[in-house]
Formats: sequence, C-alpha cells, structure tokens
Amino acid sequence: MAGLSVALNDGSHMPWLAFGSGTSLRDKDASKQISNAIKAGFVHIDCAQMYANEESVGNGIAQSGVPRSSLYLTTKLDKLAAGQTVRDALIASLARLKTDYVDLFLIHVPIVHEDIQATWTQMERCRLEGLTRSIGVSNFQTKHLEEILRVAVIPPAVNQIEFHPYVFKANKPLVKYMMDHNVVAASFGGLTPIARVKGGPLDSVLGRIAKRLSENRTATVTEGQVLQIWLRKKGIPCITTTSNANRMLEYLDVGRVPDITEEEEQEIDDVGSTVHHRFVTGPIGELKFYMANDRLSNALDTEL
Ligand SMILES: NC(=O)c1ccc[n+]([C@@H]2O[C@H](COP(=O)([O-])OP(=O)(O)OC[C@H]3O[C@@H](n4cnc5c(N)ncnc54)[C@H](OP(=O)(O)O)[C@@H]3O)[C@@H](O)[C@H]2O)c1
Repeated sequence: MAGLSVALNDGSHMPWLAFGSGTSLRDKDASKQISNAIKAGFVHIDCAQMYANEESVGNGIAQSGVPRSSLYLTTKLDKLAAGQTVRDALIASLARLKTDYVDLFLIHVPIVHEDIQATWTQMERCRLEGLTRSIGVSNFQTKHLEEILRVAVIPPAVNQIEFHPYVFKANKPLVKYMMDHNVVAASFGGLTPIARVKGGPLDSVLGRIAKRLSENRTATVTEGQVLQIWLRKKGIPCITTTSNANRMLEYLDVGRVPDITEEEEQEIDDVGSTVHHRFVTGPIGELKFYMANDRLSNALDTEL
C-alpha cells in the first residue's frame, strides 16, 4: 500500500491511504494510535488544527522511530484568531508537530474565512516559503473553488470532501468541476455505508463483491475493503482511521486485494445513488462546530 499514490497538479504525489487523527481521536491524545499506525505501515497521516491533538500527533511520529522524511503529513487550517495570519497558524502547527514542513496544508472549511481569496493568497505564500509542499482545500463547493481560482497563482492540489457511495450522486457536479480543473478529490467518510448507515441498499452488493474477492485468498475480504477499493478504482485518496489495531491491518491489506470490475464499480455507483446520507451534516459531523445556524448543512445539500 505504501507504494500506491496519486499524482497532484504541482508535480508531487500523495500516498493513496491516510490514517486520520480526527473521528474518535479528536480532542484526545493520539500519540499511541499514530505511532502504531506508522509502525504498521501507514505513511500518510492526516491531522488538523481543529482536532486539537497535533502535539500528540508529533509525539506519535517521534515514538514510531520512522524518519519524518519517509512520511507524508497533512494538516488543515482552522478559523484564524483575531490578528493571526495563515503563516502564524501554520508555524504553530509545525511546532506542535515537531517538523519544519508539512506535505499538504488545507483550508479546512471555507465558510469560516471572511475573505477566502485573501486566505488563499496567504496559503500560496506558505508554499513558496517551503512551509508546506502542497496546498489545497477541504469541504469546498464549486462556488468556493471558483472564487479562489479567480485569484490563484498556485491552484489547489486537493479538495478533501465527504465521498462515499451515499453522496456519490450529490457530489457528481463538484467532482466533475474538480476533474476539469485538475484538483484531486480526497475522501473522508468513505466507510459511511458500513460504519454509519448500515442497513442501506448497498449492504448486499458489498457482501456479494467481498465474497467474490475472497475466493482463492487466505484473508477474507471485508465490505469495508470493497468500499476502499471502490475509491481506489476512482483514483480518490482514502482518508480513514480506526481505534482498532486489527482494522489498521485490514486497511493496509487493501493494497493486496485485486480490483473490483467495471460492472461492480458501476453497480456501487448506481445503488449508492438511490439514497443520500451526508454524515458531515449530522450529529457526528466534525463541521458541527461551525454550524450553529446550519448555514453549511443547508448549503451543502441544496447546492451540491
Ligand atoms: N476534512 C474534513 O472535514 C474531515 C471530516 C471528517 C474526517 N476527516 C479526516 O478523515 C479521517 C477519517 O474519518 P472518517 O471517520 O470519516 O473515516 P471512515 O473511513 O469513513 O470511518 C472510519 C471509522 O469507521 C469505523 N469502522 C471501520 N470499519 C467498520 C466496520 N466494519 N463496522 C463499523 N465501523 C467501522 C472505524 O471504527 P473503529 O475505530 O471501531 O475501527 C472508524 O471510526 C479523520 O480521522 C480525519 O482525519 C476529515
């Protein structure tokens, strides 16, 4: 799995599979899980200022014994404090992470920045200074991408969005726009059909495909692995996480499972499109912090 990566528009490559310090690790000491994930074979760590645990991610990296240069580290810009610049915020992250650069720095949420074009220009300066190798965004809709592309000297390399079969249809116009503008879509929430809305129409489809892929294989292929292979087939990086050591190995094993067929991919697209579940707008969605007036959830589902 370590070898599988996705090319970005700035010439760099992003490892396809990432271990995240959000979800159940958010606001908690993530050092042990991060260290274990790296020792197990993850090379891409996804964290964020908003998760309030970057210090422990830095500790976990140090404890793993794996050199920083062998890892790919993503972090995300939170809402800026009064008077704080993007550079200030990134320098503070670098200190917590105990590194002098990140590989990818994302604007976490568009709506918390009053002037998104000015924020983007500051992101570009961070890249030119070498504080981050690539820059991108997260949770951006088409209109936010259009806005920054009007002023961008360096276009965003990535938009990290909720992406799984139950938002496949709703995300289609956004993903098409991103493909047209050479912005890679990275997925969080990829396991939603089995982890958050089990009992949906995909259960039997995933089960059948997992059974086929398990034939002639010692380790059984799981439904979660089928969802991750669906992302892989589309060239979409998979940002996942787990609190369970066996699950880490399951995710890493995806690299050894053969592809699904074109017909299976199409079936997951079609069956997934029959329902709509966007978990980021629900009670466990991490954007709830910014959703006191429900601006984002309304916007996401009316405009995507
Ligand atoms: N940019 C953003 O706004 C944003 C939003 C959300 C997340 N993220 C990033 O993406 C990372 C991954 O987030 P995610 O939670 O959305 O990833 P995900 O891959 O959709 O889900 C991972 C979760 O699924 C559970 N899971 C896995 N297999 C399961 C199974 N067979 N049955 C039931 N549960 C199962 C795991 O629970 P166990 O712990 O029990 O294994 C884990 O908590 C985060 O840590 C964060 O870094 C970014």
